[in-house]
Amino acid sequence: MKISRLSQETKQEHNSQTEQFAIDVLTGLCSNPKNISAKYFYDDKGSELFQKITQHKDYYPTRIEYQILDNIKRDLPNLFDSDEIDIIELGAGDGHKSQLIIQGFLDCQKKVNFYPIDISEKAMVLMEQHISANPKLDIHRVVGEYFEGLRFVRKNSSNPLLVLFLGSNIGNFDRTQNQGFLRKLWKCLNDSDHLLVGFDLKKDVEILTRAYNDSAGYTRDFNLNLLHRINCELGADFNLKKFQHFGSYNPLLGAMESFLLATEKQDVFISELERSFRFEAYEPLHLEYSFKFLKSDIESLSALTGFEVVEHFTDPDDYFMDSLWRVSKGENHKLPLNLYVV
Ligand code: AVI
Repeated sequence: MKISRLSQETKQEHNSQTEQFAIDVLTGLCSNPKNISAKYFYDDKGSELFQKITQHKDYYPTRIEYQILDNIKRDLPNLFDSDEIDIIELGAGDGHKSQLIIQGFLDCQKKVNFYPIDISEKAMVLMEQHISANPKLDIHRVVGEYFEGLRFVRKNSSNPLLVLFLGSNIGNFDRTQNQGFLRKLWKCLNDSDHLLVGFDLKKDVEILTRAYNDSAGYTRDFNLNLLHRINCELGADFNLKKFQHFGSYNPLLGAMESFLLATEKQDVFISELERSFRFEAYEPLHLEYSFKFLKSDIESLSALTGFEVVEHFTDPDDYFMDSLWRVSKGENHKLPLNLYVV
């Protein structure tokens, strides 16, 4: 297994990341309603808690997507002509889902070059347990930002490409950001490359609510860990006992939203910012959107961002959809003017 670390973190970069974290926390806590960006969830503890969420019975997306991929793993390779393929996974995680897809291609006697890309090297450690060695499989871990990693792979190979963006990660972008993200992806890919994206579908609110308020309290701890992280990295004095987790569905947005509610009036001091912040009793701190989709949303999104839908794969209850798209760079595919590119 090869590994490329694209952005070796220097002390200077570490300081500027902490500075950026402080600025984002300042901006979020000065906003109304107060908020903190969900991108800060995933420190080591946060990633470990997320892993626990995905294994809990109340959180259905991981389990259902696994079943979908298990069902399609034999048919998916038949949609690709070539004998060799590069598979890139964005936000690789533990590899237990990508392993299904890789195995499908190997079973069809295709050579697979697998490039998991993740900003955290730790996130990819578990991968070795799930993906077994095979003479027709080359694994090349790329530690870096998604687009930096993609450009790196593109520079080193011209094989047909299948990009995996699984787990409904797309749902953590709002409905403008997701277009920007997909269009940026489109720009990094060649005509006829493929993208398999996981979308969580709209469904009964009780099922959604249970998934984001699991009975073991992992989601609560995942959210509270963000305050703990601010305490450790920015010298804050958040009292975690004075915040309550609340996950609810917003039908106007079509999204689950995660909040922490201050259970009493309190001031929180953040030494890195040299100031304190007042929370009124039951004031919400907004942490995360998890957008849910209709099939028609998915089809508009692909058309708007320059992809053609090849096939939708879903489960018998229509809880989740993995949608396979082909990059279309035909003459008449123009970037719609209202796109916001991140
Ligand atoms: C990573 N992402 C797709 C998860 C989701 O469902 O939005 C994060 C998560 N937050 C709470 N539970 C899971």
